[in-house]
Amino acid sequence: MTVFTDAVARRRTFAIISHPDAGKTTLTEKLLLFGGAIQMAGAVRARGEQRRARSDWMAIERERGISVTASVMSFEHGGLSFNLLDTPGHEDFSEDTYRTLTAVDSAVMVLDAAKGIETQTRKLFEVCRLRDVPIITFINKVDREGREPFDLLDEIEKTLALDVTPVTWPIGMGRDLKGVYDLTTDQVLLFEQSRGDHLPDGIDMPLDDPRLDGLVGAEAAARLREEVELVRGACPPFDLESYRAGHLSPVFFGSALRNFGVRELLNGIGRMAPAPRSQPAEPRPVDPLEDKVSGFVFKVQANMDPNHRDRIAFFRVCSGRFKRGMKLKHVRSGKLMALTNPVFFLARDRELAEEAFPGDILGIPNHGALRIGDTLSEGEDLRFTGIPSFAPEVLRRVRLDDPMKAKQLRKALEDLAEEGVSQLFKPLSGAAWIVGVVGQLQFEVLANRIESEYNLKAGFEDAPFETARWVGGGDKLLIKKFVDANGSAIAEDRDGALVFLARNAWTLGRAQQDYPELRFSATREQH
Ligand code: G4P
Repeated sequence: MTVFTDAVARRRTFAIISHPDAGKTTLTEKLLLFGGAIQMAGAVRARGEQRRARSDWMAIERERGISVTASVMSFEHGGLSFNLLDTPGHEDFSEDTYRTLTAVDSAVMVLDAAKGIETQTRKLFEVCRLRDVPIITFINKVDREGREPFDLLDEIEKTLALDVTPVTWPIGMGRDLKGVYDLTTDQVLLFEQSRGDHLPDGIDMPLDDPRLDGLVGAEAAARLREEVELVRGACPPFDLESYRAGHLSPVFFGSALRNFGVRELLNGIGRMAPAPRSQPAEPRPVDPLEDKVSGFVFKVQANMDPNHRDRIAFFRVCSGRFKRGMKLKHVRSGKLMALTNPVFFLARDRELAEEAFPGDILGIPNHGALRIGDTLSEGEDLRFTGIPSFAPEVLRRVRLDDPMKAKQLRKALEDLAEEGVSQLFKPLSGAAWIVGVVGQLQFEVLANRIESEYNLKAGFEDAPFETARWVGGGDKLLIKKFVDANGSAIAEDRDGALVFLARNAWTLGRAQQDYPELRFSATREQH
């Protein structure tokens, strides 16, 4: 193996998907602990405070206690380099989450042992399935009374149509939690011994070993033996290929809060999760081991640092060995870009990135040149695919409280639209801009950010439109006919692409019926 292929093989780029409150934040912190990225003492002392500190540039997160933007955290463990991409948990941010999931090679699905599969888990799972992202399941909160493990496995299998294979199995639950049994190593991990920051090693213990009764109690031991026999009979054996193809999910049980079973999960990710995979692109897929550097932008974040009006593009390296100072071709504009100050994201810090490998996420400061979906390459006209813009589900007219500031407001709206959280439409007739988002809560985020980052007051009023569709197909004459006939419902997006703002499903259906040659698309792939 060369240094390059070895570095690629050691990368694990993944995301955690979960329903709010299942324990994603807690698990993230515990995983970072293993990478030494945050101090144990701090994490234990002030978890809530820490969560707020992590994204203190965004006041609304503090106010509402939700994480609204994805960030990236890198850490090392067991000779591997992990890149953990945080996904927003709130359901209003599915678009942002979707794009984040285009940049990972695998995912960890966190379930609350008392709740099982919840709405948001399901939605996020569907996104993973679309891209065949392999999933490891972590059933969290076993230190509390939860549902029967078999019941939970059954639910995953039935509702997600996914095979499951437990890697660890809980010995009791809630008040009776004794530990977990590792089915791959035949070891017992004791819960009692893992209080605080002490993490005991597993104890070798074949199930028929009589010492097991002494270790966890005769009753729990008998039950474990019975359950493991059932598990081994009922679940398919772990099959790496099936997991990597997205058909089978290995399952771990644990408690993120009590730091129990988390190390086993992390080792499992290291052992099973794929290293960077080939990425879909036009005109050909890109293999991570290719010499030439390439990658794509999956997220843009404006004003991360209020002191510097910078904008960070989150860039997933897909192939080649990146070196700081490299000049890469910005394929959309054809221009060369010198990457002189790219950064890595550590737990809460950024660090200048001298070198990066496939699977790594670079933050590239820029002044708006980089957009979501953009490809950078060492010259080839590549375009990574599958990073869509979604049709907004809520549309509002922008109201500016001080008309003298129209220009500044436009700049703010354009900046924020570039992050891909909202979309800006300019009606061909009429002056008021229309902003579209995928979820209602984003208007609050927008208004809050416009105020805190641009010092402007703006409001969002009802607009007489329900949804937007990108108009394509047909010839120029037909498009003109459609535009003339629909006057005030026609707008342009920020790239000048034609958009039909539909009053309701009926008008949309009518337009489709009257103009069968035209395409009304709910998503628009970038450029
Ligand atoms: P999220 O990011 O998925 O929304 O979940 P988060 O980690 O914030 O956890 C949600 C709640 O569940 C938190 O309690 C957290 O302490 C608790 N929790 C997480 N993992 C475990 C676990 O393994 N066992 C138990 N018993 N609880 C767990 P909270 O009271 O809402 O927040 P806080 O006051 O502790 O900050």
